[in-house]
Amino acid sequence: MRDPKERLIIALDYPDLPAALEMARLVGSEVGMLKVGLELFNSAGPKAVLAVRELGARVFYDSKFSDIPNTVAGAAAAVARLGVSMFNVHALGGSTMMAAARTAATEAASAAGLPAPIVIGVTVVTSLSDDEVRDELGIPGDARETAIRLAVLAKEAGLDGVVAAVSEVPEIRRVCGKEFLVVTPGIRPAWARVDDQSRFATPKQAIEAGSDYLVVGRPVTRAEDPLEAVTAIVREMASACTT
Ligand code: C5P
Repeated sequence: MRDPKERLIIALDYPDLPAALEMARLVGSEVGMLKVGLELFNSAGPKAVLAVRELGARVFYDSKFSDIPNTVAGAAAAVARLGVSMFNVHALGGSTMMAAARTAATEAASAAGLPAPIVIGVTVVTSLSDDEVRDELGIPGDARETAIRLAVLAKEAGLDGVVAAVSEVPEIRRVCGKEFLVVTPGIRPAWARVDDQSRFATPKQAIEAGSDYLVVGRPVTRAEDPLEAVTAIVREMASACTT
């Protein structure tokens, strides 16, 4: 098993850069990546990514791009030049859009002398219910079936993996193979508050289900001692039984 610490991503969900950087300084060296999401990016701009990188941390930009392929390609090239280690696009944007993001990111990173970022697809956001997927979006079947189908599409488009709920990981692994990365949010250690997550799993369950990267926000960022929370999560990940 890869070093559990490298597989933990902490979400810097803050409205301003100073607060995000305070947390980044505290836990950045103890985890694999720090996640810059839409809240921080749209408050502080690209300099949020650069400032977190300057601390020596790797950045997952949770960009959730979705637009025409040409526009997404331009955005993908821009974030690759910022030096993000991972970013994502909506798989519902289609395979041409996903492939355009993949190609543009790889080319821009190479031109800038940077490693190609990991490009991940967002399948069905876990906030959508089965009824919403069927009745509002008009997609037959349930959210889970749609998520699996979109994971296959993301793989075929050349993406490195997908974001998924822990409960979907074994099936995605089965159909997309063991090299395909699965990034799972909705992680709640037994000692943490559930907050607004409804389909959550413990760090141990996530690793045992086959997750490659665990995204954790409030159980760390709102903990009395965030560093101790990170240590406890990494210890729990390491205790998971994998075959
Ligand atoms: O605080 P918490 O651990 O719930 O944070 C989870 C992080 O993962 C947040 O940044 C949230 O935006 C993100 N996320 C999620 N569920 C998804 C996709 C992303 O909670 N389906």
